[in-house]
Amino acid sequence: MTLFDAACAVRENAYVPYSKFKVGAALRTASGQVFAGCNVENVAYPEGTCAEAGAIAAMCAAGEREIAELVVVADSPSPVPPCGGCRQKIAEFAGPEVIVTMMSLDGASRAVRVADLLPGAFGAGHMDRA
Ligand code: THU
Repeated sequence: MTLFDAACAVRENAYVPYSKFKVGAALRTASGQVFAGCNVENVAYPEGTCAEAGAIAAMCAAGEREIAELVVVADSPSPVPPCGGCRQKIAEFAGPEVIVTMMSLDGASRAVRVADLLPGAFGAGHMDRA
């Protein structure tokens, strides 16, 4: 199963009563395992938890820590970009050269390096004098 297929499948489980906007994300780890997540909203925080964050949480829960590749899928007019918070979460577990592919259901896609998704990222090195 491709990451696109995995993201499309999990997207069907998105819980989106507020936005009605279903998103699916699937990632492959350095060891080859695939984890997927969908967005899950709630009444107090209608933006809820993003699909990317769900996939990352599933990865961590399985004891994995290194993203090799990530795909995000939504039914949007142009490939859906990860939100700011998710960019930081992705950068926590993916090196700068890792490719994040944003896709729309109709197959349009845009591939971006993590370094370009979050230029000038805050990193652990910035705390070296703490
Ligand atoms: N959303 C994601 O899950 N991932 C993205 O990359 C962009 C936005 C979700 C969050 C919320 O459930 C809905 O889309 C609209 O903000």
